[in-house]
Amino acid sequence: MAILGIDIGGSGVKGAPVDTVRGELLAERHRVPTPQPADVTGVVEAVAEVADAFSGYDRIGVTFPGVVVDGVTRTAANVDKSWLDAPAAQLFSDRLGRPVSVLNDADAAGVAEVAFGAGREQPGLIMMLTFGTGIGSALFLDGTLIPNTEFGHLELHGADAELRAADRAREQEELSWEKWADRVQEYLRHVEMLLSPRLFIVGGGVSKKSDKFFPLIDIRTPMVPATLLNNAGIIGAAVTAEQAGGHPGAIQVDAADAGSRPD
Ligand code: BGC
Repeated sequence: MAILGIDIGGSGVKGAPVDTVRGELLAERHRVPTPQPADVTGVVEAVAEVADAFSGYDRIGVTFPGVVVDGVTRTAANVDKSWLDAPAAQLFSDRLGRPVSVLNDADAAGVAEVAFGAGREQPGLIMMLTFGTGIGSALFLDGTLIPNTEFGHLELHGADAELRAADRAREQEELSWEKWADRVQEYLRHVEMLLSPRLFIVGGGVSKKSDKFFPLIDIRTPMVPATLLNNAGIIGAAVTAEQAGGHPGAIQVDAADAGSRPD
């Protein structure tokens, strides 16, 4: 069954149909700019524009950069406040005429990495962290997602950690790699003290430049860059929509299962 994955990001809404067994896009992605302000009405239309570029799919998975519980968006740290308590899955499926699953963006990227990328066949507690506008987190135990962990908002020096250590802080404050890596190291040490994961998978656009900052970070937990990069959110959203079986609220995702099914 063809499933469409759509990733709502700070600057673009991107989507493509996904082969959820192989974890690959079945067509070139279609991208439209994220409307500003990124309010509910504008983003629903942008998602519809992306979906309209494709045909022949039955379900859709959509990522959102905030907490999503039972298809309802609960937080909106880096998007328009009209998303607070919005019935997102319902709004998208009313507009698109098909079942839609909505999940957190970092959770979706993690699902893809654990099923098909850097976290494949990794048992135990695995943590994906995305460094972008904010810091997203996704926690997996033996391949099963524990959704909405929001570890980007841990408090460090009396402030939200993502305000100091996200890639946006590096860009806006024009930090050197050394200075930024110091902050990331402090953040990662805090997370490893709290959770002792077996592995950190580092995603977000900056993970393409991992050679610039990985060598500067000294922590006990092994750390690897994400491998699916730009497509992780799209792929993870589609895998989640498939496993939800048409129930918009369900995000019971077993990423380990997704990668291991026969062709
Ligand atoms: C949000 C998370 C999101 C992350 C990355 C944070 O500010 O609270 O839900 O995953 O940014 O977009």
